[in-house]
Parts: sequence; C-alpha cells; structure tokens
Amino acid sequence: MQGRIIITGASGSIGSVVAREMAAAGRPVVMACRNPRKAESVRDAILADLPGAEIGILPLDLASLDSVRAFVESIGTEPFEALFNNAGTISKSYSLTSDGLENTFAVNYFGPVLLTRLLIPRMAPDARIVNMVSLTCRYVSVDEGSLLPAPGDFSQLGTYARAKLAMLRFSMELARRCPQLRINLADPGIVNSNMISMGRWFDPLADILFRPFCKSPQKGAGPALAALSSPERNRYFVGKRCTAIPSRFQDPYLDLRLWNETEKIIQL
Ligand SMILES: NC(=O)c1ccc[n+]([C@@H]2O[C@H](COP(=O)([O-])OP(=O)(O)OC[C@H]3O[C@@H](n4cnc5c(N)ncnc54)[C@H](OP(=O)(O)O)[C@@H]3O)[C@@H](O)[C@H]2O)c1
Repeated sequence: MQGRIIITGASGSIGSVVAREMAAAGRPVVMACRNPRKAESVRDAILADLPGAEIGILPLDLASLDSVRAFVESIGTEPFEALFNNAGTISKSYSLTSDGLENTFAVNYFGPVLLTRLLIPRMAPDARIVNMVSLTCRYVSVDEGSLLPAPGDFSQLGTYARAKLAMLRFSMELARRCPQLRINLADPGIVNSNMISMGRWFDPLADILFRPFCKSPQKGAGPALAALSSPERNRYFVGKRCTAIPSRFQDPYLDLRLWNETEKIIQL
C-alpha cells in the first residue's frame, strides 16, 4: 500500500473525484474539508463502492490561518506521501477574513502556502505536491502589492486569477528550495462545478448556454491525477499533456520577492 495523501477541498467536484480515484488505488486518503457534513457524504459514497478504503476527514478552513495550524497539529506524526492543494473559491465581492486578508487570496493562496510550508517537515523525502492553478493565470500579473488588494483593486475573476498565479509562483520557488520534492501544477480547464457560478443575474443563462460545454469533474480531475502519479518535477499538467512551466511564468526574482513578502504577511 502506498502512503497517505492529503486532499484539500475533497468534498468538491474535482476533489471528490480525486479522493475516489486515490482510494480505489489503495491509498489512504485524508479529506481536508471545511464542511464536515458535505465531506461525510462524499466519504460515505466512496465507502459504499469501496468498503475497504481508508478515508479520514479532518477539518480545515483555508480562510483561517489558525485553522490551518490546527489542521497540521491534528495530522499525526506518520509521514505522508502527497498533498493536493485543490480547494479554491471565487469570492463575489471584496471581504476580509479574520486574519485581515482578502478572502479569495486567503483561500487560494495564503492558506495553502501556510499549509504546505508547515507540512513539509512531515512529508516523505520524495513526496508529491500538486497545486491546482487555472488558465486565468495567463491573463494577469502579480507582484508584492497584489497580495493584499484594496477594495478598489478587487474584481471577481481578476483577484482569483492573481491568487492562482501567486500559487503558481510559490510552487516554482518551493521547487527551487526543496528539489527533493516532486512539485507540479495541474490546470483542470473549465469544469462544470460550483466554481463557475459567479453568483450573478446571468448564472441561469450561463447554466443553459455555457455549462453543458464545460468538462465533467471526472475529466477536469485528469491533470491532477496524472500529476499525483507522475515521477516528474516542476511540470504543468493540462488536458492530457505534461509540459514545462510556460516561459511567460519564468521570473525567479519575482518568485523570491513574493515568497519574502508572503512570509512577512503570514508571519512565517
Ligand atoms: N471549475 C473550474 O472551471 C476550475 C478551473 C480552473 C481551476 N479550478 C480549480 O480547481 C479547484 C477545485 O474546484 P472545483 O471546480 O472542484 O470547485 P468546487 O466544486 O467548488 O470545489 C471547491 C472545493 O474547495 C473547498 N473550499 C472552498 N473554500 C474553502 C475554505 N475556505 N477552506 C477549505 N476548503 C474550501 C470547497 O469546500 P465546500 O465544499 O465546503 O464548499 C470545495 O470542496 C479549485 O482550486 C479551483 O480554483 C477550477
């Protein structure tokens, strides 16, 4: 049997597919979820089909740095072999978390960064980390000033895209610092999930005209599943391909500046 895998947002569309596939492959799964009821129903459905599966649920709210720290304390000492930073959100409007961070950045970036940094000492030497990014990353840029957006800088998709791009840059810097780890990026494409509801008047229209053309969660999980079983490092998994991280994202000095600024903000 292979080692434990931690999946954030394992109660969601893509996360639940990955949890099921990992359990089917005989891997012990830790579902790191903020909504225990939703997580339990996903776990129960998997167990109904795979009665021998080893699946635990631990609470994790990525919008709270205290919750991230509590999660890491609760994980136990047994090393684990993979972390899938899958959870994500697109806030409709500007709001701050209890830590004073903009919510989209907190959930898609600061929470996963803190989680990953705190978990590294508990990882097997060549553990895999897969970070979920988005095709929206290619349309924005991010710098130190973007990490704490002011209300006037906020836009629903723009802030989400910048948070995902910050996560991509964090992954590249982490790969430089921890070359033993197999750190890869997964881009699911546009997937038929809650994530594509914008909470706007046009949602019902989009449900008819747009949603049917989006990928299924099963298909959207493909790049992450490939990354989670790949021997590769520092690659970008999208569709059925595994490529080098696109050159438009190569800027080690910027990655380093963001790393340093992030450490200050989350007091690492
Ligand atoms: N769908 C797309 O088109 C698309 C495209 C590019 C990238 N992605 C990325 O793919 C990943 C999975 O998205 P999905 O499409 O499967 O969406 P989803 O079904 O909405 O799943 C999102 C998951 O994140 C969890 N989550 C949200 N806020 C959280 C928080 N504060 N703390 C902990 N967990 C939290 C959700 O928990 P609850 O169940 O409690 O809400 C849910 O389990 C996300 O990172 C997303 O950005 C999606």
